[in-house]
Amino acid sequence: MENSALGIMTVHAPGKPPFPERVFFRRLIERGQKEGISVIVFHPTAIHFETQKLNGFTLDQKGKWQTITAPIPPFIYDRCFYLGTKYNRTYKPQIDRLLSLKGIRFLGVGLKGKWQMYQLVKNHPTLASYLPPTERVENLDQIQSWLQRYPSIILKPMSGSLGIGVMKASKSNSAIIVEGRGKNNVPFRKSFKSFQSFCTFFKSRIERWKYLIQPYLTLKTQHGVPFDVRLLVQKDGTGQWVTTGSAIRMGQSKSITSNLHGGGKAFSFHQFLEQYYTPVQAEKINSKIAIIERTLPKYLEKHHGPLVEIGIDIGIDSDQNVWLIEVNSKPGRQIFEQLQDKEAVLKSQLSPLYYAKYLMRSY
Ligand SMILES: Nc1ncnc2c1ncn2[C@@H]1O[C@H](COP(=O)(O)OP(=O)(O)O)[C@@H](O)[C@H]1O
Ligand SMILES: [Mg+2]
Repeated sequence: MENSALGIMTVHAPGKPPFPERVFFRRLIERGQKEGISVIVFHPTAIHFETQKLNGFTLDQKGKWQTITAPIPPFIYDRCFYLGTKYNRTYKPQIDRLLSLKGIRFLGVGLKGKWQMYQLVKNHPTLASYLPPTERVENLDQIQSWLQRYPSIILKPMSGSLGIGVMKASKSNSAIIVEGRGKNNVPFRKSFKSFQSFCTFFKSRIERWKYLIQPYLTLKTQHGVPFDVRLLVQKDGTGQWVTTGSAIRMGQSKSITSNLHGGGKAFSFHQFLEQYYTPVQAEKINSKIAIIERTLPKYLEKHHGPLVEIGIDIGIDSDQNVWLIEVNSKPGRQIFEQLQDKEAVLKSQLSPLYYAKYLMRSY
């Protein structure tokens, strides 16, 4: 088996070739050619375990996409997202089988979701203090008691992403106000006269998703604009964790979340700190974020398994407390594209290749 081959595993998507992130993968293939690494993009469904081969896509000499059949590469970069496509069920057994093959090494193995992250991190002596109080929703009484404890709560699907299915609930006299985003990403606001009528509504949703409950934190600037900090931390060509970029996602002031898909905008993190905080406040925020950056990736690797990169979502509340909101093991790069930070975009794209090269040399 060729030791210097890297496979990028991805999902189906409309278009030619039929997968997302084509510009990103093109970069990896082209740089791979210069570095002596053959990079092939493939779908989990295109692996033939009997022949130990797969069908995939790469670029020809002229930079045109071409299909090829090749031995299963010894190194795999997993970029499979699960957005409820019809393929999910067919992917999983293939990926599990690939994971169990001898001599195949995934650069990183995906984190399982918000609840797993919470349970791992709550055992860390310093990192735990950055976690908002979190519980898994088990019954409706629990929600009622949280609503008595906190002015507003947030309900989030355990394995969701892009802010889909996130709801904020607040008590106002005896009514319950719920805000969120509906199926087509359209914001909604509903008022329920009683906790009972809220329950009927919530039950109709919870059947589909498992939910987490947290206090709703005011992750806003003093002007009331919701925002969060996004860090991309990656393994580099020497196997060390480095922060490739940091940015701010600002939501619309009426939005309950600040996801880009919910219409947010991107800003430079350091400019943002300078603009909205005093130097003393900025320094405090920076030092807390530095602790998370330095500690979290290694800790997760130790307790979860190999990781090649993580996107860390951090919230800062109106008292400048820093909160660890989410960790994504298949982070997007859109935020750096929006910032037009070409250097961060390029570095974020190429780091997995250099890390793979480092692994190839050390095997
Ligand atoms: N406890 C919270 N209080 C207030 N806002 C929150 C809270 N948790 C998350 N958010 C907001 O909702 C967004 C989405 O939540 P997140 O946990 O990252 O889920 P997703 O997987 O949908 O991105 C966050 O980026 C943040 O803006
Ligand atoms: Mg998120």
